[in-house]
Amino acid sequence: MIRSVTGTFHLHLDMFRMAPDHHQGDFVDNSAIRKMYDFFSSTPWFWELDAWTCRATARSPYRERVIGQLGIGESSRVLDVACGTGLNFDLLQERLARTGALVGLDYSPKTLRLARKKVAKRGWDNVTLVETDSAVYAPEEPFDAALCTFAIEIIPPWRETVAMMVRAVRSGGRVGFIGFKESTKRGFSTMNPVWRAMSVPFGGVELDRTVRSVLGEQCDEVLYEEVYGGFYYLLVGTKR
Ligand SMILES: C[S@@+](CC[C@H](N)C(=O)[O-])C[C@H]1O[C@@H](n2cnc3c(N)ncnc32)[C@H](O)[C@@H]1O
Repeated sequence: MIRSVTGTFHLHLDMFRMAPDHHQGDFVDNSAIRKMYDFFSSTPWFWELDAWTCRATARSPYRERVIGQLGIGESSRVLDVACGTGLNFDLLQERLARTGALVGLDYSPKTLRLARKKVAKRGWDNVTLVETDSAVYAPEEPFDAALCTFAIEIIPPWRETVAMMVRAVRSGGRVGFIGFKESTKRGFSTMNPVWRAMSVPFGGVELDRTVRSVLGEQCDEVLYEEVYGGFYYLLVGTKR
């Protein structure tokens, strides 16, 4: 009994262990992130609690704002990168009116299983779920829009992921993010050490990634807004 409890504890610790330099100087191993999200997804209420406390529910105003800027029409093709359990899907499907195509990709099989359940429950037949590392995904057809919410600061190969998203959309298509950052707002910035400390168990989040400037190399910015006390940013660009 004691041995099995100890065994479980060790397994969990292993998930949070940082790997040495792995991908372009990033410090968290991809497989560790995958295990971590598999672990989160075996706890049914984890995602609900997380979404509720972080203002990231399926109807979050932040999701609405970014998705509203993606230029999605009824027959668009949309890519949701690191889609998790599919918290963007309802808002996306309302714009696609089920005639367009939605591809959700994620690296965690257990998380994708929850997304698959949601798709089945809603009876959607225009959604494809792909289990892959976002850095290496190569679509067969171009997309009209790609988004990545609450994940780009978690994904170890983030530069490759941004590059993949830009490659994946047609010229004139939109690429959008909801990301994490440290706050520069008065009154909130004193919370940065707490925010940084919370970031480690939630996926080794790196709060200083230069997603905005990397995206700006190939896209014209249509939206940049800091929200949630400056701890999140909303970013959308149009591919040149
Ligand atoms: C905080 S969740 C965000 C989920 C969803 N986008 C949302 O808005 O709720 C982060 C997701 O990133 C996924 N992820 C992390 N690294 C990844 C990678 N290299 N490729 C694909 N997905 C990845 C995790 O499996 C997890 O589902």
